[in-house]
Amino acid sequence: MNKRIAILGTGTAGRTLGKKLVQLGYQVAMGSRTADNEKALAWVSENGPNASCGTFEDASRSGEIIFNCVKGEITLEVFRSAGSEHFKNKVIVDLSNPLDFSNGFPPSLFSQWSNTNSLAEEIQKLLPEAHVIKTLNMVNCEVMVEPSLCGADASMFICGNDAASKTSVMNILQQFGWKDIINLGEISSARSMEMLLPIWVKMRMLIGNSHFGFKIVRP
Ligand SMILES: NC(=O)c1ccc[n+]([C@@H]2O[C@H](COP(=O)([O-])OP(=O)(O)OC[C@H]3O[C@@H](n4cnc5c(N)ncnc54)[C@H](OP(=O)(O)O)[C@@H]3O)[C@@H](O)[C@H]2O)c1
Repeated sequence: MNKRIAILGTGTAGRTLGKKLVQLGYQVAMGSRTADNEKALAWVSENGPNASCGTFEDASRSGEIIFNCVKGEITLEVFRSAGSEHFKNKVIVDLSNPLDFSNGFPPSLFSQWSNTNSLAEEIQKLLPEAHVIKTLNMVNCEVMVEPSLCGADASMFICGNDAASKTSVMNILQQFGWKDIINLGEISSARSMEMLLPIWVKMRMLIGNSHFGFKIVRP
């Protein structure tokens, strides 16, 4: 295996996914705005020789598969600044959400990236030679890498235009422990996946913790 993975983002999602991917045997490079980001340096020292960090551009250059774990509203800016040449023919796993906190909590969705559009589609338009795959955005990051925390087999959605890329991401999801993976088809299905966030936030408020998921029941 020994695939090189880039994690763009030093938040809880990036650090949690990065740790799990290192444990699974991948080489993981974490990217941030600055090469000496404190959270990234601490994450590297905690995760051993297969963990490294640098700028968004450094990480994107080295990764064969790139996980987008940055704040939704600046996602496109981050991809633009990292340099489009680093994403050619690569898989981008997008788990960002277009959450708008400008009016406080609970957040709404940015109208330009919802309903008839999505962040994942905008990334795909920005980087037409990359293969954007949307998944994992509708669960908390601890659940992403340990779905059994939900207490039952939750469903995980995935979509994207390139079948082979989707298969390789499904393989990573299986390594995380996901069993019920539902392929929603092309990248435009990211609209519905990102629009799950308002109900996720509502459930988080009702349940009082983040260890839950969505389950599709069917015969
Ligand atoms: N946390 C979760 O459990 C979870 C679950 C599902 C989906 N997600 C999605 O995953 C993404 C990351 O979430 P998170 O909570 O881990 O972290 P976050 O706080 O949303 O994002 C952290 C990252 O955003 C970058 N960033 C923030 N402002 C920036 C700016 N103006 N310009 C460039 N970069 C900027 C930071 O860069 P620096 O590294 O330079 O500081 C950092 O790497 C979000 O889109 C979120 O919706 C998160």
